Amino acid sequence: MKPVEIAKAQGKLGVMLVGLGAVSTTFIAGVLAIRKGLALPIGSLTQMGTVRLGKRTEGRSPKIKDVVSLAHLDDLVFGGWDIFQEDCYEAARTAGVLEGELLEQIRPELQAVKPLPAVFDPHYVKRLRGPNVKKGKNKRELADQVIEDIRRFQKDNHLDRVVMVWCGSTEIFMTETPAHASVPDFERALECNDPAIPSSMVYAYAALKEGIPYANAAPNLTVDVPAMLALAQETRAPLAGKDLKTGQTLVKTIVAPGLKARLLGVKGWYSTNILGNRDGEVLDDPESFKTKEESKKSVLDYILQPQLYPELYKDLCHVVRINYYPPRGDNKEGWDNIDLFGWLGYPMQLKINFLCRDSILAAPIVLDVVLFLDLARRAGLSGIQEWLSFYFKSPMHAPGLYPEHDLFIQLMKLKNTLRYLKGEELITHLGSEYYDW
Ligand SMILES: NC(=O)c1ccc[n+]([C@@H]2O[C@H](COP(=O)([O-])OP(=O)(O)OC[C@H]3O[C@@H](n4cnc5c(N)ncnc54)[C@H](O)[C@@H]3O)[C@@H](O)[C@H]2O)c1
Repeated sequence: MKPVEIAKAQGKLGVMLVGLGAVSTTFIAGVLAIRKGLALPIGSLTQMGTVRLGKRTEGRSPKIKDVVSLAHLDDLVFGGWDIFQEDCYEAARTAGVLEGELLEQIRPELQAVKPLPAVFDPHYVKRLRGPNVKKGKNKRELADQVIEDIRRFQKDNHLDRVVMVWCGSTEIFMTETPAHASVPDFERALECNDPAIPSSMVYAYAALKEGIPYANAAPNLTVDVPAMLALAQETRAPLAGKDLKTGQTLVKTIVAPGLKARLLGVKGWYSTNILGNRDGEVLDDPESFKTKEESKKSVLDYILQPQLYPELYKDLCHVVRINYYPPRGDNKEGWDNIDLFGWLGYPMQLKINFLCRDSILAAPIVLDVVLFLDLARRAGLSGIQEWLSFYFKSPMHAPGLYPEHDLFIQLMKLKNTLRYLKGEELITHLGSEYYDW
């Protein structure tokens, strides 16, 4: 196979984050700390992961970052928008994820990241109000202001390339309307302030118009509409999303494929969480929770495939709850109760109690998605990057396909994509060459 031509990752890469909350500040502070040698990039495939190349007997398993040209952590420059004026140091303090001692060691760099005024309308995020908000006569004008922000950020920091990631709050549940049908329809809707266009779509439109890769860390509809997909194709911008796969859903997509692999039946899966950060507060609003719930619930259906295994999974009762409980802050606690059954239908139970740290699980994903989207752009891959499904609860996929949720298939897909880019043989795990077949 011939390798794909990939422009080298030269110069600086701007990372523009919409929302400087818990996830963003933990990501930025983490990268700064790692750059200074204060900590390790644990959880990041681009920094610590390896990829096997060739046969098992060849012993070639280099680090991913030595196989494909990825931006170096020293070359990342951070910026973004928020409805609050706190700089990144204060915002990290407010988020309360990282310890003060660590934050003090990177304080000047964090303080240098100051949020630009946001595109924000409380209609789409009911529980938030903030002072740092743009004004414009319509959504088109707001999008133009975001484009202006991107260009200025790029110029002031002498950036070679930019990636945008939505790390803002979860918006209310929305579905596709005629305003999303095509780029001209969407642009008309921007002009006439159509309510079908939430703030997140204004940012995404600005990024895609500029040909900038865009990732959606939240479950918002944003780029899952024909107009955005068409715009991404037009400007050759890569897309990834949506809703970072952390905490309970990560565990679900590890355990469920195992149960299905052994053909164990599942009658019920009850998941509940307590969470006390700002994300939890936003999700306490039923309209934002609905967006999250849809994203979390589809996972089991796709992994267990009840249409293929009706005796095992047809009547599965799947319940997901998130309860806002301030004393816990970002340190979420999740409980899963799984009612399963085995040989001759005999019932069993599996209980999982995960005391996780949401943003600690999310930060390395943001890093990987930024670096891989930048790689995709340099490799000429545009539109939906399904190979990045590994990182998302509701992976984007081409129309007519079903999404792949199984974490292990997702990882294989990601690594095979890297092999493909490098012109290396894809790994099928058949292994017939080692035996006498
Ligand atoms: N933490 C995780 O593990 C995780 C996992 C999956 C998805 N997510 C999603 O990622 C997003 C961020 O999570 P978080 O924990 O950092 O939340 P957070 O509440 O700490 O941060 C979100 C930030 O976005 C800002 N914001 C909201 N609307 C905005 C807008 N229109 N423009 C600019 N800024 C805006 C808020 O002011 C806030 O500072 C949420 O949507 C969450 O559901 C988080």
